[in-house]
Amino acid sequence: MTHPIILVEVGPRDGLQNEAQVIDVATKVELIERLASCGFKHVEGGAFVSPKWVPQMAASDEVMTTIKRAPGISYPVLTPNMKGYEGARAANADTVAVFGAASESFSQKNINCSIAESLERFKPVIEAAKADGIRVRGYVSCVLGCPYEGKITPAQVTPVAKTLYEMGCYEISLGDTIGVGTPEETKALIRAVAAEIPVAALAGHFHDTYGQALANIWAALGEGVTVFDSSVSGLGGCPYAKGASGNVASEDVVYSLARSGFETGVDLDSLMETSVWISEKLGRKPGSKVTLARKSES
Ligand code: HMG
Ligand code: MG
Repeated sequence: MTHPIILVEVGPRDGLQNEAQVIDVATKVELIERLASCGFKHVEGGAFVSPKWVPQMAASDEVMTTIKRAPGISYPVLTPNMKGYEGARAANADTVAVFGAASESFSQKNINCSIAESLERFKPVIEAAKADGIRVRGYVSCVLGCPYEGKITPAQVTPVAKTLYEMGCYEISLGDTIGVGTPEETKALIRAVAAEIPVAALAGHFHDTYGQALANIWAALGEGVTVFDSSVSGLGGCPYAKGASGNVASEDVVYSLARSGFETGVDLDSLMETSVWISEKLGRKPGSKVTLARKSES
């Protein structure tokens, strides 16, 4: 028997947002289309944020209006406020994501407001999306640690996650933005949050800075989480979280889950080809151990 797992491929957004080199629209479009044809049902396409804050995401409107959309696939984009939402709607976004934090300092550095102010800003976005038939995902960053405040407790995460869920987000992605958390901490976090909102509405978003991401996915899986964010070739980081490295590599997640009897719907060979292709474009080796191992065998 196979157990279905949903993977949200965040490479084109979380992966590329941190790249200093210019990546043209054609490459971003090809990356999104390739990932969709690998079998991901959710491919995050970009971010409608200030180009002064995150220059790499500036052309998200062009990217979103150029991609060929495959049926049954969603292409979420980040929208921190109404300006971002209007841009996303004009670019035919089917899903938008608001992004808050469990840490006050990170909220200030990342979106220039307090946690409470951010939730107020998200309200009209969620209301407008509801009226327009656009789904809204919610992110909570720094769930296991903050680059400015250090340790973050589940008690700091739960109220933010619960508020986003009650405001109408269909799913809350819990982000270990700087990849410091461990499996035991992950378990405790999921237990605490799942006591307030259904575990089926939770997703895990683990960066791999300290090499804990795959172990944390397994810990969350053990607590009933079945949705995980990952990034092709382990691309990624956050410009406002110094030292944050990439997300867990999608190839490593697909390999680990598939060999353990879980069904992700993603074709590992196509994904590895995409990983090698984007890594060559970026002038570096793939950041996935599975892709590197398979390459060395062939
Ligand atoms: P602000 O400066 O406070 O915004 O930034 P403002 O409302 O005062 O406006 C200032 C200027 O920005 C104005 O332009 C606005 O029009 C413009 P000006 O008059 O100076 O020419 N502006 C915008 N332009 C484009 N799109 C918009 C927008 N809003 C205002 N949406 C703001 C506030 C939220 C805009 C800014 O802080 C920002 O863009 N932050 C984004 C930071 C970001 O993208 N971080 C990375 C994503 S989060 C992440 O990676 C974590 C995650 O992966 C999960 C995890 O790992 O934990 C999701
Ligand atoms: Mg992230």
